[in-house]
Amino acid sequence: MAEFVADTLAGYTLSQSIVAAHHCGLWDAFEKNLDGAVSLEALARDNGLERRYLDALVAYLRQQQLLAAGDAPGEDRLSDNGKGLVKGGLGPFLLVVGGYGGVLSQMGPLIRKEVRFEDIKANARNGRLVALGTDLASRGPGRNYSLALDRAAASPAEVVMDLGCGSAQFLVALVQRTQAQRGIGVEIDAKACELARQTLQGAGLGERCTVLHTDIRTILQRQPDLADRCDVVTGLFVVHEFFRAGFENAVQEFQALRALLHPTRGRLVMVDKITDPLDGTNAHSMMKDFELFHQMTDQRLYTRAEWQRLFDAAGLKVSFEKEVTTPAGQHTGTVVFDCVRA
Ligand SMILES: C[S@@+](CC[C@H](N)C(=O)[O-])C[C@H]1O[C@@H](n2cnc3c(N)ncnc32)[C@H](O)[C@@H]1O
Repeated sequence: MAEFVADTLAGYTLSQSIVAAHHCGLWDAFEKNLDGAVSLEALARDNGLERRYLDALVAYLRQQQLLAAGDAPGEDRLSDNGKGLVKGGLGPFLLVVGGYGGVLSQMGPLIRKEVRFEDIKANARNGRLVALGTDLASRGPGRNYSLALDRAAASPAEVVMDLGCGSAQFLVALVQRTQAQRGIGVEIDAKACELARQTLQGAGLGERCTVLHTDIRTILQRQPDLADRCDVVTGLFVVHEFFRAGFENAVQEFQALRALLHPTRGRLVMVDKITDPLDGTNAHSMMKDFELFHQMTDQRLYTRAEWQRLFDAAGLKVSFEKEVTTPAGQHTGTVVFDCVRA
C-alpha cells in the first residue's frame, strides 16, 4: 500500500513538473539540441524566469532522472528518458495535466455541487495546451495523424477542411498529402487559432489555407459557398463535441457536415473514441483517464452502436472503419471512420 501511495503521488508531482518545464521553455531548448547541454542562466534570462524556482524544478527533474548535470556548473543534459520525452512523449502530459488539469482539480467540488460546470466552463480547459498536447500525441508513424492521412489521401482532393484544427499541424500534412489547392481549418478557440495561423505561415501555406475562427456548427451560415464543395472533411477528436446536446442535435450537426461534402467524391474522415472497448479488462489505462476528463467537462462519448445509429440517421455510410490497438494488443477506443454520403 505504501508503495502505491508513493508511486501515485510521485507520478502526479512529476507530471506537473514536466508541464511546468514546458512552460519554462526547457523542453524547447533541448529539442533543438538533444545531446547538448542547456545553461540554466541563459534559459532564465531569455524567458524572464524566477531562478530559485527554476533551480528547484531542475533539481527535482534530475532526481527523477529526466535531466542530468552537464559538464559545466549550471548546465543540464537530458537523460535517456528525458530524450524520449522530448522526442515524442510530451503530448499526453500537455493534454491531460496542462489542458484538463484545471477541471480535474475541481472534480470534488463538481461532484459535491459546490461549483457548476457552466460557471467554470470558460477556464475548464486550456485550449492551447489541449491543441498542442493532442497534436504531439497524435504525430508519428502509426499514430492518429498518419491513420487519418492514409484515409484522407485515398482519393484526389481540391478542397480539404479540418474541423477543430487545433495547432493546424494536421491541416498542413493534409494539404501536403492530398495536394489540395485549398485548405480550411475551423477552430473555436482564439489561442488555438493563433497557433494554427503561425503553423500555416511557418509551413509556407499561408496563401493556400485559411483558419475560420468559428464554431463548427456555424460553418455553412458563415460560408454558404462551401456547401457541396469539400472533397475531404476531417475531424480528429472533435465531432464528439456535438454529443452533449443530445442525439437529435448531433444528427442535425452531422447532416450539416454531410452538406459540406462533394455529392459524389466527398468524404468525412474522423478519428474519435468509442467507449465500449474501454469497459473491458484489456483497455489501455490512460484511455480511461481520457474518458474521465471528458465526462467531467460535460462531454459525451458514444459506443460503436451509437455512432452507427448517428451515421444512419444523418445519411452517411461508413466505407472504412478501424479501431487502434496498442502494440501489446490493448484497446484504446480510438477509431477511424471514413464516411461518404449514403
Ligand atoms: C482535442 S483537440 C484536437 C485538435 C486537433 N484536431 C488534433 O487532433 O490535433 C479539439 C480541438 O477542437 C476545437 N473545438 C472544440 N469544439 C469546437 C467547435 N464546436 N468548433 C470548432 N472547434 C472546436 C478545440 O478548441 C480543440 O482545438
